[in-house]
Formats: sequence, structure tokens, C-alpha cells
Amino acid sequence: MSSLGMVAVLLAAQASRLAAYQCLNATNNQDTEYSVTLHVGSEGFAMHVTPDTGSYQLVLASKQCVSCEGHCMGCPEHRLFNESSSTTYHDWNETVISAYGQGQVICAAGSDFVRLGVAQSQERQAMQLIKKNDLQGFSQDSSYDGIMGLGVTDLVPVTNQVASPSVLKNLNISTFGICFSLVSGEGGRLDLGSGVPGLAYHDVPGVGVGYWMIGLRSFLIGDALVACHAWPYCNAIIDSGTTLIGLPKTILNHVVKHIGNINPDCSNVDQLPTISMLVNDGHILTLPPSAYIAQLNDLTVTQPVHVGPFVANLPEGTESACTHLFFESNINDPQTHAPVLLIGMPIFRRYAIRFSRGKGSSNQTVAPGHSIGFSPLAYDSPICSSCAATGEDGSAASFTRLDAVKGQAPSSLQPETLVSAPVSSAELGRAQSSAKARVSSYSARMLRLPRWLSTLRRDDSSGDYIL
Ligand SMILES: *[C@@H]1O[C@H](CO)[C@@H](O)[C@H](O)[C@H]1NC(C)=O
Ligand SMILES: *[C@@H]1O[C@H](CO)[C@@H](O)[C@H](O)[C@H]1NC(C)=O
Ligand SMILES: *[C@@H]1O[C@H](CO)[C@@H](O)[C@H](O)[C@H]1NC(C)=O
Ligand SMILES: *[C@@H]1O[C@H](CO)[C@@H](O)[C@H](O)[C@H]1NC(C)=O
Ligand SMILES: *[C@@H]1O[C@H](CO)[C@@H](O)[C@H](O)[C@H]1NC(C)=O
Repeated sequence: MSSLGMVAVLLAAQASRLAAYQCLNATNNQDTEYSVTLHVGSEGFAMHVTPDTGSYQLVLASKQCVSCEGHCMGCPEHRLFNESSSTTYHDWNETVISAYGQGQVICAAGSDFVRLGVAQSQERQAMQLIKKNDLQGFSQDSSYDGIMGLGVTDLVPVTNQVASPSVLKNLNISTFGICFSLVSGEGGRLDLGSGVPGLAYHDVPGVGVGYWMIGLRSFLIGDALVACHAWPYCNAIIDSGTTLIGLPKTILNHVVKHIGNINPDCSNVDQLPTISMLVNDGHILTLPPSAYIAQLNDLTVTQPVHVGPFVANLPEGTESACTHLFFESNINDPQTHAPVLLIGMPIFRRYAIRFSRGKGSSNQTVAPGHSIGFSPLAYDSPICSSCAATGEDGSAASFTRLDAVKGQAPSSLQPETLVSAPVSSAELGRAQSSAKARVSSYSARMLRLPRWLSTLRRDDSSGDYIL
């Protein structure tokens, strides 16, 4: 074989390897965020980035940053990208300012090659290097070095004039899976190329453009049908970058009323109601109380925390409290005016979730034909705490799991027919007996609100925010 032919064979092998399945361990940072390793620039500088399905930019802490060091209490120092030490870095000579309710983040726009496991970017990846971070309260103690937006779009704006391939497009990732262990302190996993091998997922078609969003037809707490069952129904963004669950104010008020009293030591968690969401294809997603209740510590942040459309009313007058993980977020879908719910990390501990981009070209204006698949997890399943349970290539899958819930539309909207949690009674019994142990414990300082609030538009007449 000629040396040229050899090169071609090697390149072909390389290309097929890039498209192959791989799994990355996600490190747990105090249960409020998870990070994977991304290699950046000609030196392959390793950075810990949060895989964030709610945003679509790659944002990295950098040596240019005047406020990135020293913010990080009780966590490893941030690793700061030094673009001068990468020979491949391209500077767009443009400053990007993201304004948030609590301050602003000033970034330099640039691009460089990145690598995620064996997936290498096909061209320079657009990125924002943080130069100044003025955000108060939430997020300042984050231990990650960056946020890797895994938004559904093919193109992301770099400057006002220029758009560039998104991380998913550039790394040629059409399907990926994210899930986190239910066990406090344990890790998570990011599967690239497919979901978790061996799991059966129920795929729900995505709605709208630009977000990993599904349509809901009912929202129940316990037996009570509280919202989303009449036009314009609701949409829900599945957001791996948010610690909490965002609900519009009216739904939040109902939910808080129906949850009732939460004992300060979390001892009555197993008596609290389960949340059920009926998806527009008839599928039902459930969140048991252990998923939406947590022990919150370090309650010293100014209250309520108010960021753009988001309001978190944390318990006052105490250092630590058992509380629900809902916060107020008043966002509407621009097309249908449907309220938009934000379902954050709690659902990734209850379901392994698979994101599929679909075939169509997608940008902010064209629906990409994407779908989101859900596979319910047994509460004691080790599958989502690291890649170890399935082996490097997924061949050694052996673990306990529950079958996916059958996607049946209930014949009526009687609440009784909807509340069918995808767990057997034996499973429930075991889950309840250890419910208290499974309640997560968070530092309030570490809670993460959605990364992408700066992209929202405000509707002057209603005061609500629009996607
Ligand atoms: C992208 O991945 C697909 C499989 O998902 C593969 O067929 C294709 O060759 C890859 N493209 C490049 C440029 O690597
Ligand atoms: C960044 O890298 C350049 C080139 O290696 C080096 O001269 C410079 O001191 C570094 N900057 C910082 C702040 O470490
Ligand atoms: C960067 O932009 C500034 C103003 O926008 C301009 O004065 C400067 O020449 C630019 N630098 C480069 C290297 O393009
Ligand atoms: C989005 O994609 C459609 C179809 O491919 C194209 O016509 C449109 O110009 C694109 N919009 C942007 C902002 O790139
Ligand atoms: C992922 O984590 C598991 C459990 O900690 C470990 O056994 C495995 O070696 C890790 N895999 C990689 C690729 O780091």
C-alpha cells in the first residue's frame, strides 16, 4: 500500500472512531453542578465544564479574567485558559457583554480547537473567554471552569454579524445522553453517540425551535390537576445546567400549597406528593418528593434571590432548612404564549435522558426535528454514577433498571388515571424506606440558575419574559 493510501486508511479509521460511542464521567460538585473534561487549544488544556442543555455557548474562565480567581471557596482552584499559550487560538477582537439581573459577565469572543474525549472539533469552536464576572450571589462559588452549551441549534452567534457551528455540530454529535446519580455526592455521565447502552428510552418529539423543549398537557401534584391541561398548555425545557425546577408563579403557588408542610429535618419526605407531568404524546413523567426536596445549607444569600424572570424564595431566618427545589420563572413561548417550565437536574437523577438532534438543519428559526428520550431509573441503580457500569464501549451492560413507561394516553383527564408512577410497589416500598437518606443536601451558595437568562426578551405589556 502506498504511504498515501495508508494515510487515507488511518484517516478513515480516525473518522469512524470520532463518530463512535463514548462515555465521559461527570464529576459531582456539591450536588449542584456536574462537570466533564474538555481539552482546549493547541496544548489540549484540560478544563472542567458543565454540560448544559439549556444554553448553547461555550464559556470559559480565562487568564484575562480579573474576578475569576479567589471566588472559589472550598473547591479546587479554577483552571484558567491562557489563549496566548495556544498557537491555534483566533481572536475575534470583540467583547460580548451578557447582562443579568444581578450583574454582568464580560467576555472576549474567540475560537480555538477543542476535544471532548476522542471527539475533536472539525473547525475552531467559537467560545467566550470570561474577562470579568460581576454576578452576585448565585454561581460565584462554582467550581467549574466553564459552561459547555449543548443547545440544539447548529449555529450560534459569535458576534452580532457572525454565526459559527455549535459544540454539537462542530463535534459531530447528533445524539447524547446525560444522567446523574440519585445518591448525594456520586457522579454522573455524559454519553456521546447514543444514550446509555442497554437502556430503553421513550422518545418525545421536541417542540419549538432553539431549545431542548417538550410539550406538556397536564401538571399534577399528587392527585390534584394544577396546570397545563387547557390551551395554550405548557412547554418544558429540559436543562442539565440548572439545579432547580422553574415554574410560572401561578403554578408555583398551587404546587407549594399542595406540598404542604415540610419538616425542617426532611423526616416527612415520603409522605409528600409525587409530581406527574403528562407529555403531549401521552407519556407520563414523574418526580417523587425525594427528587424535588433537598436540605439547603449556608442560607446566607440575600433573599429573595431575583435574577431577571427568576425568583427563588429561600427559607429565611435559619442556616439550614429542608425545602423544595422550585423557583419562580415567568417565561412564555413566543409562538403559543404557553408558559415555559424549566426542569433542571432533579429530572436527570430520576431519568436517564437522551437528546437527539434529528436530521434537519437547525438554527434559531427552523425546527430541527429533535427529540428527547426518557428512561426511568431504579432508585438504587448505579448506572448513572459513572461510566463504569456499562464499560468503555457499553458492551458490558449489566445493571438493574426499570422498563420505560408505556406511552399511553389516558382515556380521560381523571387525575387517578394519570398518577401512575413508573415504579413497582416493591420498588416504591424500598424507595420509601430509604427516602430520607436519599434527600440531597445543597449549599445555597452553589445553586445554579439557568445560564441563558440573558438571551430572554421582555414583553413590555405583560412583564413576562419570552424565549
Ligand atoms: C459525523 O458522524 C456521522 C455518524 O454519526 C458519520 O457518518 C460522519 O462521517 C461524521 N462526519 C464527520 C465529518 O466526521
Ligand atoms: C500566557 O501564556 C503566555 C505564553 O505562554 C505567557 O507568556 C503568559 O505569561 C501567560 N499568561 C499568564 C497570565 O499566565
Ligand atoms: C480591534 O478592534 C478595535 C476597535 O473595534 C480596532 O481599533 C483594532 O484595530 C482591532 N484590532 C485588530 C487586531 O483587529
Ligand atoms: C435557518 O435555516 C434556513 C433553512 O436552512 C435558512 O433559510 C435561514 O436563512 C437560516 N437562518 C439563519 C439565521 O441562519
Ligand atoms: C469513571 O469513573 C469510574 C468510577 O469512579 C472509574 O472506575 C472509571 O475508571 C472512570 N473512567 C474514566 C474513563 O475516567
